[in-house]
Amino acid sequence: MRKLMVWGMMLAMTAQAQIHDWENPHVLGINKLPYHATLQLPSRWKECKEIVSLDGQWKFHWSKDPDSRPADFYREDYDVSGWDNIKVPGNWQLQGFGKPIYVNMQYPFHRDRPSVTGEPAKDWYAYDHRNPVGSYVTFINVTKEMLSKNLILHFGGVHSAMYVWVNGQKVGYSQNSMSPAEFDVTKYLREGRNKLAVEVYRWSDGSYLECQDMWRLSGIFREVQLWVRPLVHIADYKVEAIPNKDFTKAEISADIAICNTGKKKAKNVSVAFYIEGKTLKSQSSTLNSNDTTRVRLTYQIDNPKLWSAEKPNLYPFCVKLGDEHFENHFGVKRVECVGEVFKINGKNVKLRGVNRHDHHPVTGRYVDDATYEKDITLMKQANINFLRTSHYPDREYLYELCDRWGIYVMDEANQESHGYGYANKVMGEDPEWKDAHVDRAVSLVQRDKNHPCVIFWSMGNEGGVGPNLKAMRDAAVALDTIALPFCDTDRRYSDIYDDGYLSPDRLREGAKKVTDRPFMMREYAHAMGNSMGNFQEYWDVIYADSSICGAAIWDWVDQGLASPNPFEGGDYLYGGDFGDKPNDGAFCINGLIAPDRTPHPHYYEVKYVYQPLQFVREADGTIRIINHDSFTDPSEYDITYDTLVCEHWPVPIVLNVSACLKEDKPWAKRGFAVATEQFPLSKESKSVRVHDGIAPTLKETPNGIIVSTDNNIITIDKTGVLASWTIDGEEMLKGPLEPYFWKPENDNQHAAHFAERLAVWRDAAAQRTVRSIKTSKNAHSVSVTVDCALPVGAGYTLTYEFFEKGEVKVEADYKPTAKNIPLIPKFGMRMRIPAEFTNIQYYGRGPWENYPDRKRSAKLGYYDMPLSEFETEYIHPQDNGCRTDVRWFEIWSRKKGLHVSGDQPLCIRAWDYGEEDLESAKHPHEIQRGRFVNLNVDLNVHGVGGIDTWGQRTLPQYTIDGNQPYHNSFILVWY
Ligand code: GAL
Repeated sequence: MRKLMVWGMMLAMTAQAQIHDWENPHVLGINKLPYHATLQLPSRWKECKEIVSLDGQWKFHWSKDPDSRPADFYREDYDVSGWDNIKVPGNWQLQGFGKPIYVNMQYPFHRDRPSVTGEPAKDWYAYDHRNPVGSYVTFINVTKEMLSKNLILHFGGVHSAMYVWVNGQKVGYSQNSMSPAEFDVTKYLREGRNKLAVEVYRWSDGSYLECQDMWRLSGIFREVQLWVRPLVHIADYKVEAIPNKDFTKAEISADIAICNTGKKKAKNVSVAFYIEGKTLKSQSSTLNSNDTTRVRLTYQIDNPKLWSAEKPNLYPFCVKLGDEHFENHFGVKRVECVGEVFKINGKNVKLRGVNRHDHHPVTGRYVDDATYEKDITLMKQANINFLRTSHYPDREYLYELCDRWGIYVMDEANQESHGYGYANKVMGEDPEWKDAHVDRAVSLVQRDKNHPCVIFWSMGNEGGVGPNLKAMRDAAVALDTIALPFCDTDRRYSDIYDDGYLSPDRLREGAKKVTDRPFMMREYAHAMGNSMGNFQEYWDVIYADSSICGAAIWDWVDQGLASPNPFEGGDYLYGGDFGDKPNDGAFCINGLIAPDRTPHPHYYEVKYVYQPLQFVREADGTIRIINHDSFTDPSEYDITYDTLVCEHWPVPIVLNVSACLKEDKPWAKRGFAVATEQFPLSKESKSVRVHDGIAPTLKETPNGIIVSTDNNIITIDKTGVLASWTIDGEEMLKGPLEPYFWKPENDNQHAAHFAERLAVWRDAAAQRTVRSIKTSKNAHSVSVTVDCALPVGAGYTLTYEFFEKGEVKVEADYKPTAKNIPLIPKFGMRMRIPAEFTNIQYYGRGPWENYPDRKRSAKLGYYDMPLSEFETEYIHPQDNGCRTDVRWFEIWSRKKGLHVSGDQPLCIRAWDYGEEDLESAKHPHEIQRGRFVNLNVDLNVHGVGGIDTWGQRTLPQYTIDGNQPYHNSFILVWY
């Protein structure tokens, strides 16, 4: 019996010894200092005398699992001089150590909480890499003077868990990777050189709450600082600015926490708060060693200037205690739900939003200040006024920019347990995981509570449901009531009712049903690849219903990583490209902008649909302005106009109206057009008229019909295609001018099974039956009429009419006979011309790519560009480059040009590769290019779609019904 008990105890002890902190949801940190507000404005960090930056080259060792790590590397006598160097901040996978893994919803390690080292599938990266460990070492120089102060080690973000040692002594442990971790290291440091050792685990029990759809990267990826602070210092502060009912006054309160880290009692402790040229001081008091006290200073502002994204009025302030002072700002605003209406400063503001991951193609999860500035500039220029920091807190500077330049922010907690399913109970209800959830809400609010830009505290994304979410909300509300709590998975704990990725119709219906609070889509308009169709349709619904407070696009930037291999031609890499398993392929490429921040064509559609002013032409010709903003008057813009005159037509054909900035803003110069519209004025003439000369000659031969003019010889072969076109003996075609109804898929279409649903069209033209080929002649022209039947069950007649100067008029007629013919991917023709034709000019919508369901931003105009710009290079190759409403189009080489003009507006796509090349490539560099120019001249093309990339189809009004007749007509001529 006794023996048994001893055994039992020993077993229990071994089991206990084996529980790692990083596989224990109860250990969230060891010796971590409490979370607190960002004390100093991030833009001032560099000049802040308290902060010593420890960023730079560190020594580094990577181990594939905890067992193989150098366990005693933290010791002072452990020599790391032979180790590799690593850049801090940074992710180790992007500096040559281990593999990045891109997965969407699943855990990339064996799911068995809280363990992260169980055995996964054999082909997973994690099978042989059971929790890689990065061992970091740097040395800190400490002066005698510094030692008389309080020394705090600050980590901005470390993924996913870390131990910290100073001079061989263990300081502490932390997880919760996207929030700062701080340790008091005063007692461990000494004068001279000090060894700082940090051991970082790729995965930890914290990873069960960090299952966001993103590259799973690790390391010390945000700044590391040593704060050298007076012994008595400001531990935290919260400045609230609450307007009264009618916004005529604002009550300002500064709650300041002061701590005494010294060994002696502190006397005459008084903190000062500087605001509007005034100084408020707390009463002098004494503070015991190791004690913290809070003081509250209040102030009133009459007729405050309110903060909003439109008018980001800030009140700078300074908090000062002894030698230490911090600069910051506050904004006066009120966010509230009044019944089902969301209001900011009493107005029913609409949130024109976007989601953004903290992503950089080279530095991964570390995004530098300049890129933040670029992002916020591009957002402001696109009339975006709302940013969701999906799905975790970003670096502090981003919030400062949003405060200053004006963007409403949904600040999101680093909480997603998607690997257990959307809205799962496993994590949401388990009391063992409550503290881990709450820690993420507390760290979020504590750090960012002073930012006027924050209007929502989000409890995370696609995590659990249940008491753990309630506990998060309660914790957030206990710390701040200015921003509203938001929760996507458990609506009981959200002030806003959210539903994602609804179609415009379902949004309209959904919002009607919810009557107890405002409605929003935290994610919509999945911008993957060539996307963002039907965007205006969403906003027609949102503007028409005051209970819908807005929506945020998924998402801002393509999460492509720069390829380390030059032979990959500078392509961006996505899931699987690193041999990472499991992976979700290109599903991380959903941005409005490319990884290098170049806007995609659909970025401009967002700018247009989100524009605050809408111009509407009334029946009497006057233009009415609808203002969608709440705090800006249209008179604050310069309203300008110009007209477009067509070469062959004396009167202006369109009127362009713009609303431009009257003064420089941090994000755009004076004159920048915030809103634009175009109105047709008169009917245009045709660009090419055929010449009524003498009819060309026509000869029927065994190989087809040959038509000749002075220098053109054209052959229509037995299959009815224009197979050869020589000019002065030189062949101009690399592929026939032929009927063609196929177009490659884009990502949305792929997900909606476009290729399978519309498969009959892939070879429908090639499999036509030619019923007859007839010729005819009149005084000025000769014609060849090809009558065909298409296997889909339709008649198709093609007529070529030839004129003296070599003009060829092509007419195609489609008449369905069968029932239920699938949608036509595109209705038109295709031809291939020599590769030297690389210059383009056209009159149609542009300059950027546009499709029937995404063309409002692309204005009619004359555009000129090389073929390479006419194409759009998507990171995941797919259909691209369309220009709609094209009246005429020219493409030329050094020697010759081809002119195409429509009898009706055309859709034109031109590529230096064929459909087959595009369809077989996974990255741009794999596309075989340069053998010809592939030209599609169409009456219409299937729209890109714009709801999601998991099954929703292009709206019917932007598709081509196979059961209707169509007529397409255009004229070709070489010059
Ligand atoms: C959402 C999710 C995002 C992203 C998106 C698909 O449901 O919140 O993180 O995965 O789907 O791209």
